[in-house]
Amino acid sequence: MSDVEADLRGVADFTANPYPYYAKLRAAGPVHTVRTDDFDRVRLVVGYDEGRAVLADQRFGKDWRTLPGQSGVGNPINANMLEMDAPDHTRLRKLVVREFTPRRIEALRPRVQQITDTLLDAMLPAGQADLVDALAFPLPMTVICELIGVPDLDRDAFRRLSNAVVSPAGAQEESDAVQAMGGYLAELIEDKRCSPGEDLMSALIAARDEDDDALSPDELVGMAFLLLVAGHETTVNLIANGVRALLDHPDQLADLRADFGLLDYAVEEMLRYEGPVETATFRFAREPVTIGSTTIAAGEPVLVALAGGDRDPGRYPKPDVFDIRRDTQGHLAFGHGTHFCMGAPLARMEGRIAIRTLLERCPGLVLDPAAGEPDWLPGMLIRGARRLPVRW
Ligand code: HEM
Repeated sequence: MSDVEADLRGVADFTANPYPYYAKLRAAGPVHTVRTDDFDRVRLVVGYDEGRAVLADQRFGKDWRTLPGQSGVGNPINANMLEMDAPDHTRLRKLVVREFTPRRIEALRPRVQQITDTLLDAMLPAGQADLVDALAFPLPMTVICELIGVPDLDRDAFRRLSNAVVSPAGAQEESDAVQAMGGYLAELIEDKRCSPGEDLMSALIAARDEDDDALSPDELVGMAFLLLVAGHETTVNLIANGVRALLDHPDQLADLRADFGLLDYAVEEMLRYEGPVETATFRFAREPVTIGSTTIAAGEPVLVALAGGDRDPGRYPKPDVFDIRRDTQGHLAFGHGTHFCMGAPLARMEGRIAIRTLLERCPGLVLDPAAGEPDWLPGMLIRGARRLPVRW
C-alpha cells in the first residue's frame, strides 16, 4: 500500500492558492509524503523550523549525479552550482560571487533606475498595461543580460524557453525545453568566445580556456543557465506578486504611499507573503535523517516548501495577513544555508526601485477590473501569474 498522503499533481486550486494546503498539512505535522508532477513520492517539509533546518543540513545533498543508478551529467544546463555539493559548489560559487556583493550591486543602482524609468516612459501613455510584460519581466532580464555581458540576447525567445524549463506544462515540454536551452546557451557562449568584452561571461570563458580546472565546458553552460534564469524568473514575480499584494490591500498601499521609509520592510513582507520561489529545488538524504516522527531514508528526495515555512503561524503570527510593518526576519524566500540566493542584494534593489518608481509615477494604479482570475504558473517551483493587467 502506498504511503502517499496527498496527490498534488495538476490540482487546479492548489496551483491557484497553495497556502491552505500547506496549512492543513502543517497542522498535522512538519513532514509529509506527497506526489507531485516531478515525483511519485517525495517528502515535503512544510514547517518553518524544520524547513530551515533541512536547508542548512549537510546530510541533505544536491548533486543527483552521486545517487546510485545515475550516470553522467544529463543536459549541461544541470552542471550548475545549485545542483552541486562542496567542493564543486564552492569552486563554482567562488568564480562569480564577487560580482554579486552588496557593494558591487549598489554600483548598478543608477542603471537599474534608468532602465525602470525608460520602461515606465513607454508604458505610461497607454493608461493600461500588463505589468509583467511592461516592467516586471524586462527590468530584471535587461539587468542580468547587461551584468553578465549578453546585452543582445533575444529576450522573447529566451523567455519562452526559460518559462518552459522552470514552469513546464508537462514532462515532454520540459525535456524539449531543457534540450533547446542547452543548445541555445552553447551557441551564445561560442558567439561570445569570438567577440569577448570586459564582462563576466567573457571572464568565465577566458578562465575556462586558460585553466581546465576552473570550470568544465558543461559548467560554463550551467553557469550561464543559472545566472540568466535565476536572475530573472524570480525577480519578475517579486515585482508582480508584490504589486498584486499591494493592490489587493489598499490600506497597506496607502501606508506605503504615505511613507516610502517603509519600502524595504514592504519588499521583505512581499517576499514572505507571496515569495517567487514556492519550494526550494530538490534535495536528497545522503543518510537516514529523522525529523519529528518521520525518518527519511537515504536517497529519498525532499522538497522544502518555502511558502509553507513563511506562512507558519509558529514563526509569523497571523501569517496570512499581509502587513508591511511586520518583522519578517529570517524569512525563507531566498533559501538558507550554503545555497542561499547569491542574487538577493540584486533582487532586493530591483524590487525596491521598480515598486517605488511605479507607485510614484502611477498615483491611480489599480488592478484591471476586466482581468479576471490570475493565470498562475503551473508547477511548485515558481509562484507567479503569467499576467498582471493594471490601469491608472
Ligand atoms: C526575488 C528574487 C529571487 C528569489 C526569491 C530567489 C530565490 C532563491 C532561492 C530560494 C535559492 C535557493 C534554492 C535552493 O536552495 O534550492 C536561490 C539560489 C540562487 N539564486 Fe536566487 N532568487 C532571486 C533572485 C536571484 C537573482 C537576481 C540572481 C542573480 C543571478 C539569483 C541567483 C541565484 C543563484 C546563483 C543561486 C544558487 C546559489 C547556490 O547554489 O549557492 N537569484 N535563489
